[in-house]
Amino acid sequence: MQRRNEVAPRNTADIHTLEAVALAATCRAAVASYAWVGRHAQKAADAAATTAMREALADAPGRGTVVIGEGEKDDAPMLFNGEVVGDGRGPDFDIAVDPLEGTSFCAKDLPGSLATIAFGEAGTLWSPGPGFYMDKIVVPSPAKDVIDLDDSPERTLSKVARSLGKKVSELRVVIMDKPRHKDLIARVVAAGAAVQTPAGGDVGGSLAVLLPALDVDLLLGVGGTPEGVMTAAAVRALGGGMLGRLVPQREEEAAAIRAAGMSVERVYERDELVAGDAFFVATGVSGGALVGRPRKGGGGTVVESLLISRGQVRHVTHTIFG
Ligand code: FBP
Repeated sequence: MQRRNEVAPRNTADIHTLEAVALAATCRAAVASYAWVGRHAQKAADAAATTAMREALADAPGRGTVVIGEGEKDDAPMLFNGEVVGDGRGPDFDIAVDPLEGTSFCAKDLPGSLATIAFGEAGTLWSPGPGFYMDKIVVPSPAKDVIDLDDSPERTLSKVARSLGKKVSELRVVIMDKPRHKDLIARVVAAGAAVQTPAGGDVGGSLAVLLPALDVDLLLGVGGTPEGVMTAAAVRALGGGMLGRLVPQREEEAAAIRAAGMSVERVYERDELVAGDAFFVATGVSGGALVGRPRKGGGGTVVESLLISRGQVRHVTHTIFG
């Protein structure tokens, strides 16, 4: 494995020239993992997506550093943190990647699994170090300045509702259905908001907040750090609001965070999670409201992706041959 070369001068050319490369990478990962949809084999699905993604990124015209490779917390196949990708002939860039986000949805053939990647300018994606979990709040643009991770859920709902011109009873909130969120879900329901509780997939939940057609106003709760940084790239590209804070879920994780000199009190703002220009791409694996699953067509496999970049969401369809 190649490692980051600290001495090479940085190429600051526009990272948006790499959008097609990012799309090719998620499309290939989606097709590779689609073969595993419904096979109840999470690691094999993750491995197929990771291998396809790594191969696609190897030829990227630039030099990319994997800041977050996902997979470590679940001991799953991954692109390694610090791994260098690309042919070196183009911009330097950072990537945060989850070749298969929502692995269990893929394994069980449930909607919601995506091949995902975020590209940022070199040195701009936050590294969570040994932190696997973070508390997150994601809101659309009009509510971006009112959120505070130290607010109670009730206060957050009332502030977000006011900034969106809604009543709390008109809000729809996504909170993953995890034991750690039992109290949070109960309080949000008691406050009068509607709550969508997917079994996982907080990248998809956050994207739903950013896409008005999906009628979701807010994402709350604790999810993965890689997912958080990828989400922040999409949120930043669309001008939404996001805050995050490390919340270790086990004592070993807490000890590793302390040993790394990181804080579990510090709140990271959107522009600290992603401190420069960035874009985000997701391709559908098992289908869902955001993007459909791969299907046969045009002599190949038709895949659907979302490219979130420079204030726009583009729904893109590609036909993959071979
Ligand atoms: P995977 O890609 O590892 O399957 O992650 C799915 C996911 O639900 C993420 O969306 C979320 O951030 C994270 O897992 C939450 O982790 P956990 O399931 O351990 O609570």
